[in-house]
Amino acid sequence: MRSHSIVVAVMSMLLAAFSITSSVAAQSSWSWPEKSQNLKVLPADFPPDRLRAVMTGFTRSLGVRCSHCHVGEEGKPLATYDFPSDTNPKKDVARGMLRMLGMINDQLREIQPEKVDRVNMWCHTCHRGRPQPMTLAEELGRIYVKSGSDSTIAHYRDLRERFYGAGSYDFRAPGLNEVGYQALAGKDVPGAIAIFQLNAQHFPESGNVYDSLGEAYLAAGDTAQAIIQYEKALALEPKNENAAKALEKLRAAGGKPGR
Ligand code: HEC
Ligand code: HEC
Repeated sequence: MRSHSIVVAVMSMLLAAFSITSSVAAQSSWSWPEKSQNLKVLPADFPPDRLRAVMTGFTRSLGVRCSHCHVGEEGKPLATYDFPSDTNPKKDVARGMLRMLGMINDQLREIQPEKVDRVNMWCHTCHRGRPQPMTLAEELGRIYVKSGSDSTIAHYRDLRERFYGAGSYDFRAPGLNEVGYQALAGKDVPGAIAIFQLNAQHFPESGNVYDSLGEAYLAAGDTAQAIIQYEKALALEPKNENAAKALEKLRAAGGKPGR
């Protein structure tokens, strides 16, 4: 049943979005609707917390902002957006994608009816953080035709920096970070610490990675290490409010600075 697999897909996206801290929450005077006005694929009574998980999942899967699919201006408060409106054609494209995903997952279930550890297809299975999932050659070829070799080379450098690798897996920091939080949510604190340490080894310049490591040490009750990691996070990202707040709390509680 299509509706069934959509619900499954949506539940899965909810899990995927579990560790995302949404900047949306920080926007005052707008909140996720208790009752959505114009849902055509998701159930009409879809609750606000799940709608939030799906929508933030969409933005992350495609590497876009809300305004990619909705009527509203980037940078303006969300209260000025018209979310029920269907004027932005990308919204109906996204609906079509949601239906397609339901059909794909139904089909997979038919192909392997007995499978227990089922592999679920997601928006990001195809999209991998890009609005239009294309091969490298396809994407560069289009730029070449339109703007010539200088632009193509610049674009290649940009893509290589952002998406280096075979493209089969996204090795950038958020992937491992998410798995670390999965371990943390499952109370596997040593596992979470090991995963976040590995991420820090690969991304020693990412403040967020140390922030996560600090959180894991905190869960382990290792205040001294937590302080050290939060200090690193803050040194790399002076605007990291989470790390700043955590440090403040730890020091107020009598923790000694780590350095
Ligand atoms: C990839 C496209 C896409 C992105 C990005 C996206 N949305 Fe949506 N949004 C949709 C679609 C499609 C629907 C309608 C789903 C349906 O018809 O079942 C929807 C519905 C909604 C609704 C319900 C409106 C109503 O009353 O009917 C809200 C609220 C919403 N989105 C908010 C957001 C916010 C906030 C963001 C950014 C964090 C966002 N969306 C990002 C595609 C998107
Ligand atoms: C099976 C692979 C696949 C899956 C799964 C998939 N998409 Fe797509 N999507 C594509 C392809 C390919 C395109 C580009 C189509 C084109 O431009 O010709 C695309 C394009 C889009 C676009 C238009 C982007 C733009 O800026 O032009 C949106 C929006 C979109 N997808 C949303 C979603 C959402 C939301 C999901 C999950 C519910 C999803 N897609 C799942 C393959 C996929």
